[in-house]
Amino acid sequence: MKLGIIGVGHLASSVLKGLLHAGVAPHTICLSPRGHGPDLAAQHGFNLATDNASLVAESDVVLLAVRPADAADVINGLPWRAEHVIMSACAGVTIERLALGAGPARVVRIMPITASELGASPTIVYPMLPECRSFLEAIGTVIALDSEDQFEAATVSAAVYGWAQALIRTGAEWGARNGLDPVVARQLMARTFVASGRIQGEQNAPMDDILASLCTPGGITETGLRSIERNGVPDAWTDACDLVLRKLRGTD
Ligand SMILES: NC(=O)c1ccc[n+]([C@@H]2O[C@H](COP(=O)([O-])OP(=O)(O)OC[C@H]3O[C@@H](n4cnc5c(N)ncnc54)[C@H](OP(=O)(O)O)[C@@H]3O)[C@@H](O)[C@H]2O)c1
Repeated sequence: MKLGIIGVGHLASSVLKGLLHAGVAPHTICLSPRGHGPDLAAQHGFNLATDNASLVAESDVVLLAVRPADAADVINGLPWRAEHVIMSACAGVTIERLALGAGPARVVRIMPITASELGASPTIVYPMLPECRSFLEAIGTVIALDSEDQFEAATVSAAVYGWAQALIRTGAEWGARNGLDPVVARQLMARTFVASGRIQGEQNAPMDDILASLCTPGGITETGLRSIERNGVPDAWTDACDLVLRKLRGTD
């Protein structure tokens, strides 16, 4: 299965690192000749297409990772065949909109995050097609969804990925202000968030029970959690999720 990538920017560069790390052979991947395409092809031995039409002609699956506003125009007029699968990573761009320019090709939406480069992207996909599986598994965990509505709601998690990093930074800076070596503070905070995610993601007990088991009455976790709640953090978080979902759906 040959992969083509149209739009070799920030996201696609992370995906490519992940694919290389997973052992995907560079000569099975063809890059569009803009953005980081030429440099990455020279560096790692990916094929570099002369233009998007030749990329489509020689690929089976095409990852579309241009800016959302460009997505529909970029795929329009390319030589799509019925065997092609277009995997669009373009946030908020619907299948209906992409299908207008996709001819007989099938369109799938995916939302990888830059942790792809570590093989650690929880990548949502709708609809799941077998042609996509090996690429998505190479960059992390695949989460197949049942509808485009679900996909849009789940896309909010790609923003949460950034918000969590902002919280990690706040915690690390606090640690450094309180005497920790900044490198130690950053590692400690980052790995604490990873540990939190793993416990909630890898245990089957109800989420409330896992959290309650940490909240000894009057203890440090409970005291801080109550302070966070009094300061409106859960409501602010929910508001931000609602805002992003409205933006994705174009209803903001
Ligand atoms: N960044 C993320 O972490 C992330 C995560 C999930 C999803 N996404 C989605 O991924 C997409 C790309 O985001 P990004 O952050 O990677 O943006 P980016 O760094 O701006 O990359 C977009 C790339 O598309 C190229 N491009 C534009 N028009 C093109 C065309 N006609 N043919 C070939 N290449 C073309 C641009 O090349 P030039 O530089 O030559 O203009 C640029 O290299 C967006 O739709 C976004 O919603 C991003």
